[in-house]
Amino acid sequence: MKGLVLAGGSGTRLRPLTYTGAKQLVPVANRPILFYVMDNLAGAGISDVGIIVSPESSAEIRAAMGDGARWGARISYIVQDKPAGLAHAVLTAQPFLGDSDFCMFLGDNLIGTKIADAVASFAGSPHLAGSVMLKAVADPSSFGVAEVDDAGHVVRLVEKPKHPKSNLALVGIYLFRKAIFDAIAAIAPSARGELEITDAIGKLIEQGGVVRFDRVTSWWLDTGKKDDLLLANDTVLDDWLVHDVQGDVDAESKISGRVQIGAGATVVRSTIRGPAVIGAGACLIDAKIGPFTCIGDGVRIERSSVDHSVIMEGSRVVDIGRLEDSLIGRRVIVHPGATRRGALSLLVGDDCKIELAKEG
Ligand code: G1P
Repeated sequence: MKGLVLAGGSGTRLRPLTYTGAKQLVPVANRPILFYVMDNLAGAGISDVGIIVSPESSAEIRAAMGDGARWGARISYIVQDKPAGLAHAVLTAQPFLGDSDFCMFLGDNLIGTKIADAVASFAGSPHLAGSVMLKAVADPSSFGVAEVDDAGHVVRLVEKPKHPKSNLALVGIYLFRKAIFDAIAAIAPSARGELEITDAIGKLIEQGGVVRFDRVTSWWLDTGKKDDLLLANDTVLDDWLVHDVQGDVDAESKISGRVQIGAGATVVRSTIRGPAVIGAGACLIDAKIGPFTCIGDGVRIERSSVDHSVIMEGSRVVDIGRLEDSLIGRRVIVHPGATRRGALSLLVGDDCKIELAKEG
């Protein structure tokens, strides 16, 4: 079985972070979301993986993922010229997929379940034309929504319905055989002008294909907005973080709970409360970090306290008292300046949000 990972698309909801980077590379517990996707595919024995990229995201994604050797896999890159939908991405990948069965995984989907069992069961059930994963959610109207029968089969699917017929949302992980190409050939673009994979699966069922579903009972995280991304970090730190201290921690520093500190990091007179992850080459001086905090590679924090936050690569936080519930991008500098007392001096890009402490 081959893997097809979708990493095109523009990620408008995570602006400003996604102005300068692909949403699939936004870090969760200091690892790009796509790394977890590859972990999951490789764990299911899928080692021949195509990644769909857009012309804009191509270079950045290739640089981050490489040739796949990190996962014992081989990655091929496939450029989709225009964001014409998930089913259009599958068509674009046809030369790579050939006649092979494949697992399609949306590169911004992060789930707490290993897909290995679903993949093995699909491989052993040749009568199935497809298999999808469904998760019961409170408001399914921003997802594909499935109606199912008691035999474990999908009966009907609608993309982002105003009035959902069930609470079962389509998780972005699908198993297909080559019959999906005939179904895609038989659909037309949706109202948003895209060839929807949801419509293609519906067509597959209309054409007599049997599509099974698995229910996702673990977490499924949407990393779309600031609070969602902080929640994704909390969940991954809670469930998957392994205690591993590699950097230099001086005798005056205190570390408690599960903490990961990367190679070349320096920790001086600081307190770190886990779960927390400190990237390679980071430098903490007189800092209080955590819990539920991710400090990126090369970040410098001095005389400041950072709690329940994500601070990405190369940023600097100095003398700012207390920072919490924050998401800070790459190479950002936060420090008190030389301006008049009580005045702020800011250089802030588009779509940023600054919340200052209330006086008193
Ligand atoms: C896409 C699919 C949708 C699915 C969702 C899962 O939506 O079209 O059916 O439920 O991914 O993440 P999009 O992210 O393109 O809005």
